[in-house]
Amino acid sequence: MTIDIISVVPDLLKSPFAHSIMKRAADKGLLTVNVINLRDYTTYARAQVDDYQFGGGAGMVMMIEPLVNAVESLQKEKQYDEIIYLTPDGGTFNQKMANTLSLKNNLLMICGHYKGIDQRFRDHFITKEISIGDYVLSGGELAAAVLTDAIGRLLPGVLNDESSALTDSFQDNLLAPPVYTRPENFRGWKIPEVLKSGNHKLIEEWRHNQAMERTVLRRPDILEQ
Ligand code: ADE
Repeated sequence: MTIDIISVVPDLLKSPFAHSIMKRAADKGLLTVNVINLRDYTTYARAQVDDYQFGGGAGMVMMIEPLVNAVESLQKEKQYDEIIYLTPDGGTFNQKMANTLSLKNNLLMICGHYKGIDQRFRDHFITKEISIGDYVLSGGELAAAVLTDAIGRLLPGVLNDESSALTDSFQDNLLAPPVYTRPENFRGWKIPEVLKSGNHKLIEEWRHNQAMERTVLRRPDILEQ
């Protein structure tokens, strides 16, 4: 899968994909992330990409021309399955969206800044608008990194233990159960006996009950969905 990300602050996206699981995905050739500097596509002086909004009001708006130049130039090389705009007024990102997007081949993400991007670009080029939560970030880059990570780790072969993405929180509409590792007894705090029983059926039952209990207590909303 390829994820191209258009940004005015490309350096912000240098580190998130250079470590750990995202690095492994890249090293294995399963995920290619390209960060594109929007300023390379402007014809305005001093690499300008934003301007005052028509009608007045505080805050600059990202201009349509550099965005269209960038997208149309990229589209000469590949066809995108989705062109995603990261914005607080988009639909809230969740595991189901991550699953769906992980089945695509080519994604393009657009990171907004300032007051956002010219509505005409949204109307004519964007196929999906996604928010990562009800708060405002200073730009879409961190949101693009969140999506890329959540999607990238789902690609077959990225996680070592193939089953591990399936037992994540949200994957079956439940939060994940508690987990324990060595030592068995730390300061008298012991692990649940059942986990030492070797009885897989019993352990699965216990995990399911724990997951259910956690979900009811912490996130009853996802059970209702
Ligand atoms: N850009 C600014 N805030 C955002 C958010 N919450 N989600 C996605 N993109 C954003």
